[in-house]
This record gives sequence, C-alpha cells and structure tokens, in this order.
Amino acid sequence: MASPLHTQTNSNTSAMNGTSASAADPKSQLSKKPRLHAPTPPLLITPSDILSEFSHHDPSIARINNGSFGCCPSSVLSAQQHLQLQWLQQPDHFYFNQLQSRILQSRNIIKEMVNADHVDEVSIVDNATTAAAIVLQQIAWGFAEGRFHPGDAAVMLHYAYGAVKKSVEAYVTRAGGYVIEVPLPFPVNSVVEIVQEFREALMRGKQNGRRVRLAVIDHVTSMPSVVIPVKELVRICREEGVDQIFVDAAHGIGCVDVDMKQIGADFYTSNLHKWFFCPPSVAFLYCRRSTESSDLHHPVVSHEYGNGLAIESAWIGTRDYSAQLVVPKVLEFINRFEGGIDGIKKRNHEAVVEMGEMLVKAWGTHLGCPPEMCSSMVMVGLPACLGISSDQDTLKLRTYLRDKFSVEVPIYYRAPKDGEVGPVTGYARISYQVYNKVDDYYKFRDATNQLVHNAFTCASLPN
Ligand SMILES: Cc1ncc(COP(=O)(O)O)c(C=O)c1O
Repeated sequence: MASPLHTQTNSNTSAMNGTSASAADPKSQLSKKPRLHAPTPPLLITPSDILSEFSHHDPSIARINNGSFGCCPSSVLSAQQHLQLQWLQQPDHFYFNQLQSRILQSRNIIKEMVNADHVDEVSIVDNATTAAAIVLQQIAWGFAEGRFHPGDAAVMLHYAYGAVKKSVEAYVTRAGGYVIEVPLPFPVNSVVEIVQEFREALMRGKQNGRRVRLAVIDHVTSMPSVVIPVKELVRICREEGVDQIFVDAAHGIGCVDVDMKQIGADFYTSNLHKWFFCPPSVAFLYCRRSTESSDLHHPVVSHEYGNGLAIESAWIGTRDYSAQLVVPKVLEFINRFEGGIDGIKKRNHEAVVEMGEMLVKAWGTHLGCPPEMCSSMVMVGLPACLGISSDQDTLKLRTYLRDKFSVEVPIYYRAPKDGEVGPVTGYARISYQVYNKVDDYYKFRDATNQLVHNAFTCASLPN
C-alpha cells in the first residue's frame, strides 16, 4: 500500500458534503436539518491547492506541532474576514438578523457530526478551557447548594491538561471536593494498564462511603499524548455510580472518533480550532439532556442568562463571533479531501506513525505508546545522550530547536525509574496535519542528529 505521505487525493467518498449554499442564506436552513449531502461533490483538493491554502504559514519552520494551536486554511480565513466586514458594515442588522441564525446553523452541523440527539445539546464556546469552566462551575454549585457533601470526590487523570487541573482546583477543591488523580504509566503499552489504574482510582474515590460526583476524562491527553479508551472508562463510571462524566476532548474532532451516543458521557468538549480547521478560537460543548444540564450556565453572564446554555453561550457580550460562523465553510474545505474528516484523520494517523517510526529508528529509541493508542500525534523517544533531566530542560531544548534549527515541536520530560539503565527521559510530541511534508520530520531528525554528533547536552543551555 502506498505511504499516506505520498498518496494524492483523487476521489471523494465523503458522507458530509455541501453547505456552501447555506452559508449565503442561513435563514433558508433554519427549519430543516443542515444538508450534509451535496448533489454534486466538490472538486477534490490537489497538493498545490493545499500549499496555497496554507501559504500563510512561515515556510522556514518545520511546523510539526499542529496539536498546540491547530491551523486554518486561507479559504476559511477569507470567509471569516468577509463575515467580520459584514458585521462592521451594519452591526445592528447583523446582530438582529444574522448572528443567531448563523450560530444555530453551525450548531446544527456539529450536532450531525457528533451524533447528538438534539441541537440544544450543542453549545458553541470559545475553547475547551471555557467548556471546562461551565461544567466545573456547576459542580461547585452542587457543593454550595448542599446537594454534594464536603469530601465528595472528583476523579481526573494525572495527565489532565494543566489548565483543566487548575479549574478543578478552583471550582471543586475550593468548594470542598476531594480530588483523586489517576496515575498513568508512560510509556504505556496497552489500554489494559489505563483501565486498571482508573478502576483503582474510582475505588479510592468511593472509600469511606464517599460519592464520586464527577469524572474528568481526557479523550486524547495533551502531554504525553495518548488516546484514552473513553468509551470503556465511561462505561465503568456508570457501573460504579459516578454522578457526572466530563470528557475533555480538546483534541477530539478531526483527531479521533467523536460520537456522543457511542461515548455516552454527560459532557463532552472538543476544540474546532485544533484539528477541524476553524480559526481560533471555537469549541463545542455537548451536554446530554438531563436535569443537571438545565442548570448549566456560561461563566460570562449576559442578558441571555436563564435561556439555556446554548443561547447564553451565543451571546456573551459584544465581541467577534466570526470564528463560530465559518463552520459551514470549514466543512466545505474538509469535504474537498477524500473521505472528508474521517479520511483526513485516518491519513494523518498513518502518516504520524510512519514518521514516528522513522525517527525512533534513526535514534535507537521507541514510541511512547503502541500506534493504535495514538491519534494524529505520537510521542517519540529522544536520544538519552541529550541529557533531558527536568521540565525546564524540555522548554530550553524546544526553544533551541526553534531558534537554531527552525523546528517547532513540544518536548516532554519523563523522570527515570529507580534502577533504569540509560533511560529515555525526553519525548517529542510530533503531530501530522494535511499541510505537513516528510521534509519537516527529516529536518527534526537531522537537527537532533547534529546535536548528538556535537555531544550537545541540555546542561549546556543557559537558564
Ligand atoms: C487535553 C486538553 N484540554 C484542554 C486544552 C485547552 O484548550 P484551549 O486552550 O483551546 O482551551 C488543551 C489544549 O491543548 C488540551 O490539550
């Protein structure tokens, strides 16, 4: 089979096509489901189209870090600028006659893509950080209003995203909740290890008659990056009587399978600006219809307070809403690729694994997890001789790679275990997105080889 890195797209089998007409006239779409099947498939994207769509990227940089900030093609940026101008030309008209219907149109598309039951379950928010605040604030009220008791537990992964951990501290710990972190092994060899640790953490949560009020589960952890078996963990939470389950899938849509009915969580958030080609910043928050979801509120209160989370989120005061309105245009872009978003996701995964394996072979190291446990990002062991021995070293090395070699890649420090001989202590998280080329990864390989050749160690970098 041809390498995904060298395959050209030349046919379109996407199941989700065609919302271009609707972008021009949002009102015409409101009473019916968004048309996800176009009568005529759009022309397939070519490699030179891709180059042109991402020609605003700095060509001197090997950008193998899509995971941090995502990317947005120029056709979508143009559509966004057009919307910004429409707003500025006649804000009152746009506000009264366009904004809400266009946001609803985006929500409808997301609802179809993630297989939610109803569009009211889908709110559009700025980012995963905001979504976490919405869910966790509601937990804090559970304590404040006496529905939860001091010492009731929340469970989250040790590798939960830093900002989400801080939010748990701000909203749950401060309200009187007891937080349990699930330790996860890294490198990880199988999902069994994760499931086992998770079960044990839930048992700890339930000790002394405590109730587990919340489980926060990442779909794809950020650092180190591993795909978490969310469906299985959600099922275990249900069996064990956990009240609410929030899946933080900041890297979800466009990176892993995102189906609300299959996953079965109460809350699920995914950024659209990471792997779904939206401009920064936009995310969705899915809230399963239930009694709890009627008491969810956006932390920024506007005159829409009390009208349901989706409506509250659609107006949080005067600001630029254009990133939320280009979802139809993004879908149009995505459907120019063979297989639409599923095709992109599959090829990105295959390509990143191929590149990861090329790098670990060059350096005599290993991947941080088996290929089936990574998404469009993979952890690649760095040569031990680079002497990565702290979090600070990872930042220094990352900066050095950017400044001296024009390579943009985040690095993770893993403390060696007692008695380990010649352990790999540094892992690079490489991403693959449609704009990447093999040369980006060769550049990283060659830069690292040069460091090794020069007997470089992190200790030589200034603080
Ligand atoms: C797992 C996870 N959660 C939350 C976030 C926060 O996303 P944002 O900065 O878009 O809110 C990230 C960002 O990378 C993440 O990886």
